[in-house]
Amino acid sequence: MSALTARSVRDALRQQLANLKMPGSLEAIDCILGEVDGGHIGTAEAIGRLLDAQISLRNNRRLQAAMRSSRLPAVKTLRGFDFAFQPSIQREQIDSLHTLGFLERRENVVFLGPPGVGKTHLAISLAIAAAEHGRRVYYGTLVDLIDSLQQAKAAGRLNQRLAVLTHPSLLVVDEIGYLPVSHDGAVLFFQLMNRRYERASTVLTSNKGFEEWGNVLGDDVMAAALIDRVLHHCHLVNIRGNSYRIRHHRTTDQAEPPPARRSGKRN
Ligand SMILES: Nc1ncnc2c1ncn2[C@@H]1O[C@H](COP(=O)(O)OP(=O)(O)O)[C@@H](O)[C@H]1O
Ligand SMILES: [Mg+2]
Repeated sequence: MSALTARSVRDALRQQLANLKMPGSLEAIDCILGEVDGGHIGTAEAIGRLLDAQISLRNNRRLQAAMRSSRLPAVKTLRGFDFAFQPSIQREQIDSLHTLGFLERRENVVFLGPPGVGKTHLAISLAIAAAEHGRRVYYGTLVDLIDSLQQAKAAGRLNQRLAVLTHPSLLVVDEIGYLPVSHDGAVLFFQLMNRRYERASTVLTSNKGFEEWGNVLGDDVMAAALIDRVLHHCHLVNIRGNSYRIRHHRTTDQAEPPPARRSGKRN
């Protein structure tokens, strides 16, 4: 192929990527072709990289849009999770949840454990994985979600609000158990979970065991009915361990060297 033809083929390729609205691939193509010319990568790898560049741009955009609409409080990912710190967690279970089969099957996930063990981190990382796959996600603490339902009810828009919160493929209900919930609030939450039951996945986190949810919701019978629905199709992650938040305090108490000087930084 003459140099001129090769150049026009490459120009056409750029044109096609622009035409297909693939700016990620378009930006990466010169670098990838450079690697091909240098004999560093073969054709299949070049095509793979070209597509990867577009997929990662798309995932990034999805994540940014989700961060705006989902109320996720932070970006927490599986990559940023230190499994060595929390040996009670089975890494295979968490990895497998991140392949998102549970979303397709409309199953729930419950993270139980004391404060600081990573419940919110893992719930958010599941939500982010789902958002990157183009699924609609929404985050709220139990108290915030109930608050929004109560406000909607007072304004005569309860059904609309329930519909909005039933719509996402993944709803995170964080912090069940930290703050008390009124009986009216618990009834609204039960209604929400009832609507989502077998329709869409919910990820719940709690510092209280199920036996205490009756106290949290102020109604043993309703709590039992709620737990029954939640657990029907559910992955339970019971985390027993120390708080990541106060990990440095423990080492200081034990007069070990400060973390910065120890090998294996955790963040
Ligand atoms: N194993 C871990 N590896 C990395 N960061 C962690 C780990 N566990 C917790 N964290 C971090 O510690 C903080 C507290 O964790 P969080 O998930 O909010 O705890 P919980 O919700 O269980 O109270 C967060 O900033 C979180 O990202
Ligand atoms: Mg939390």
